[in-house]
Amino acid sequence: MSLLEIKGVNRWFGHGESRVHVLKDINLSIEKGDFVAIIGQSGSGKSTLMNIIGCLDVPSSGSYKIDSVETAAMSGDQQAALRRKSFGFIFQRYNLLGSLTARENVALPAVYAGMDLSERQQRAQELLDQLGLSGKENNKPSELSGGQQQRVSIARALMNGGEIILADEPTGALDTASGKNVMEILHGLHEAGHTIVMVTHDPGIAANANRVIEIRDGRIIADHSKSLDIAPSNITSIEEKNSWLFYKDQLFESFKMSVQAIKAHKMRSFLTMLGIIIGIASVISVVALGRGSQEKILKDINAIGTNTISVYPGKGYGDRRSSRIKTLTVADANSLKEQPYVDSVTPGVGMKGTLTFANQSLSAQLNGVGDQYFDVRGIKLAYGRLFDEDDVTQNSQIVVIDDNTKNKLFSDGTNPIGQVILFNKRPLQVIGVAQPNNTGFGDTDSLQMYTPYTTLMNRISGTKYITSVTVKIKDNVNSQTAEKGIIELLKARHGTEDFFTRNSDTIKQTIESTTGTMTLLISCIALISLVVGGIGVMNIMLVSVTERVKEIGIRMAIGARQHNILEQFLIEAVLICLIGGLVGVLFSFGISVLFNLFAKDFAMSFSTISIIMAVLCSTIIGVVFGFMPAKRASQLNPIDALSRD
Ligand SMILES: Nc1ncnc2c1ncn2[C@@H]1O[C@H](COP(=O)(O)OP(=O)(O)OP(=O)(O)O)[C@@H](O)[C@H]1O
Ligand SMILES: [Mg+2]
Repeated sequence: MSLLEIKGVNRWFGHGESRVHVLKDINLSIEKGDFVAIIGQSGSGKSTLMNIIGCLDVPSSGSYKIDSVETAAMSGDQQAALRRKSFGFIFQRYNLLGSLTARENVALPAVYAGMDLSERQQRAQELLDQLGLSGKENNKPSELSGGQQQRVSIARALMNGGEIILADEPTGALDTASGKNVMEILHGLHEAGHTIVMVTHDPGIAANANRVIEIRDGRIIADHSKSLDIAPSNITSIEEKNSWLFYKDQLFESFKMSVQAIKAHKMRSFLTMLGIIIGIASVISVVALGRGSQEKILKDINAIGTNTISVYPGKGYGDRRSSRIKTLTVADANSLKEQPYVDSVTPGVGMKGTLTFANQSLSAQLNGVGDQYFDVRGIKLAYGRLFDEDDVTQNSQIVVIDDNTKNKLFSDGTNPIGQVILFNKRPLQVIGVAQPNNTGFGDTDSLQMYTPYTTLMNRISGTKYITSVTVKIKDNVNSQTAEKGIIELLKARHGTEDFFTRNSDTIKQTIESTTGTMTLLISCIALISLVVGGIGVMNIMLVSVTERVKEIGIRMAIGARQHNILEQFLIEAVLICLIGGLVGVLFSFGISVLFNLFAKDFAMSFSTISIIMAVLCSTIIGVVFGFMPAKRASQLNPIDALSRD
């Protein structure tokens, strides 16, 4: 039984009119341990036949059996396994990977076979030493002579055993001396039991072989054998491991190769990453800005008073009669105070009027309020004092002025405390100045003053009705329940619902959901930029695949499986996106430093979730957009890939 058996093999290239018939009805069997030379003129079909023998190409018709197994029935990975374990290729143009050192090139087939790193390096070194390349193991192919490169490629062919050595014009690119050296090595291998198939156009070289097959125009025209003297074979191809450790090692190798590829094209990789960097940085920054402003607004709301419910006369803010509706009274406020869920109650009554001091006359708002008002509304004292319960019961003629009023009336720097001002010709003594209102809520330009509501009602306006009641709810009480309670109580007292309530909790929720929606919206826009970035990655990966078709071909020739190639390109895409994502995160931190320098109002607030999501997002983009180019690379036909320059 022959080792290799070719029966009725034809090979056509192209379609239709341009179809060429390169191999015509080839019948050939090669015995184990033979040394065969295939000789013929240029274009006669030698390489085509050789590629079919080496499972780099498939016949258009006919049968090819290796060890009695039909190759046409094998899967891509089974053929890859043959290339990896049984065949060792030696090419005219060496086909070494330029980015790897001599030793790495030699060891590469063993990576795909799952040999341990140390074992691999040791064996590669031994082979290099045997072939007279000691000291050259760390040189890149470009730093070696042609003869040395060819010996590196022979070492690579032997790395996994190389039971069948397939050499296509191994001396074609070499000078006479190096060519002789290579032939001696091949002789040595033959003597050690390797089966050797060599292609040449030089009858002198072919004379080295045991059997010479001549081919012309795709047909075998002569086949001469010397007496076959087959050496007993003692070649053992290395055992393949299939443990998870083996996969881990291969993944690590793919990772290393991806890093090398990225490093080899720094500028291109960076430009590719740019899309991802901008996308990720904008997503994170926008989310951080959204969160920052939301936190700021909520803080302001909380400063205004947690869980307050305000009651106003009328049907709603838009009700124009509400200022004329007289329904809320101090008695209402007092009865609310009795409720178990109420912490404190502040009646409010406001009035616009004329404020006179020294020879100035201004229009201002005087708010009649309870002593709790400042606490509930989060108004802080700058200096002086606030009024207390006694002031309220005694209708004290005192006033707390806001920052605006102080600036208008006492612009000359006079201490306002103790000064008596006139509001609608009634004297009021200034006892305190409030801190400026910078919450952004309400009218920030108006002049606001606060006096006990009793003073305003009894001494200034004479009204019996109040314009608002602000109820502070106890902490552990549900504000919706409390609001219902208040409505029930006032309805019972008034007979009708001639008032309306505003719950700070509702406002808070509204603001939270509004800023949430805004953040979501802007995030979606940023997400689109991420997708655009992903498409950029896909383009570059496609270019990268096209550029490295030759490399892919070499890897396949030495036994890389489809999934090895797929992994390598996928890892490269994911790596680009991941690095882009991480740089994007750093970039957004940079943005926040700048932002915080200029914006004093609020700070960007980063959330771990959004950062994790962003990094996850960039990984997913890498996988999704890297998959197509990687798949394309892995599905290349080995011989098409190899013949590309
Ligand atoms: N992929 C292909 N598509 C079309 N034609 C091809 C293809 N590969 C080879 N051929 C044709 O097949 C014929 C044989 O090519 P092959 O490479 O086998 O020749 P060869 O005997 O190895 O020649 P050389 O000594 O120059 O290497 C040539 O005419 C070539 O143009
Ligand atoms: Mg050829």
